[in-house]
Amino acid sequence: MQSNTPGIAPVQAEARATPIRPKRLAAMINIALTTGGVQPTMCVIKITALKPRPMNSIAQIERYPVTAWTWNHPGPVKIGSEEHKSMFCRMLLDTFDPYKPAELEWPELTGDALARITGMPFWTVAVETEDKASVHVAKQAAQTSDPLIREAIELMAFEEARHQRVLAALVARYGIVIEKFPPYVPTPRTEWNFMSTGYGECLDSFFAFGLFELANRSGYFPPELVETFEPVVQEEARHLMFFVNWVAYTQANLPMLAKPWFGIKRLIHLASNGLSRLGFATGEEDFAATGKDSVGIDIDLGAFVDLCLSENARRMGQVDPRLVRPTILPTTVRALRRFIPG
Ligand SMILES: [Fe+2]
Ligand SMILES: [Fe+2]
Repeated sequence: MQSNTPGIAPVQAEARATPIRPKRLAAMINIALTTGGVQPTMCVIKITALKPRPMNSIAQIERYPVTAWTWNHPGPVKIGSEEHKSMFCRMLLDTFDPYKPAELEWPELTGDALARITGMPFWTVAVETEDKASVHVAKQAAQTSDPLIREAIELMAFEEARHQRVLAALVARYGIVIEKFPPYVPTPRTEWNFMSTGYGECLDSFFAFGLFELANRSGYFPPELVETFEPVVQEEARHLMFFVNWVAYTQANLPMLAKPWFGIKRLIHLASNGLSRLGFATGEEDFAATGKDSVGIDIDLGAFVDLCLSENARRMGQVDPRLVRPTILPTTVRALRRFIPG
């Protein structure tokens, strides 16, 4: 298979001269993350780019071109308002994909393709991560008093648990051996845990979107497997879009005296998640770093960064432009891009 992206080599081809250095990239990004930058909490955007259309389903979205979702209420939306709440909750609820893990069709894999999948070292971490995420999100739903936000977070918890079932089905289908881990018992700090999961997903997804597309274009994964996993990847895009809007909405509606602490919590979660991706976390393996190391596709660092940026923009571009986007990581990476070779 020939690569159709500059700087990306097919798996079968000779190794590139400049292999990706994930930790170096993560270090550059983390420096910027921990030295400033927060999401805007108040803004009014007038919709001009997309016309309102009926609610759709992610299940009907083709990879290229993507179909946009727009809230069926035209006009500006103030962040933190009732309209904003309805919009980001409806975005998650109305784009639900009702696929059933048991009905997914897993392609027959043999030879190198099977060895690549079974040889990836992060399956245990991946299953455990989804387990923790579903628990954190379910606890947050249980303590949420607003009925619409609770319904949306309950759906998110269901989807996280479904990711775990998808991974369990994949593990069973290809004979992947995963370690047993004890049932997860979260700390009682429910909102803290929810924010930790949310910011963790923001950081991991930025690179995961690029890696997923890299694996697709290079032929590292067979197209049928990419197709099977696409709903899971897209669900994570919906989750982080929901999460950053939940953060903006929550902060905007806090009493004035409570806002600074919430802002500090956001920075702490950004910093701690960034540090963990640099390998400074104790007692936890990092899914993103382990995944990148294990994929083993050689690509210019600059080309990989460009791919992460474009994939992030493509997936985030699917929903109403009035919603808040994750901006810190893409903005930082874009600013640092001139210093990255390739
Ligand atoms: Fe997930
Ligand atoms: Fe998620």
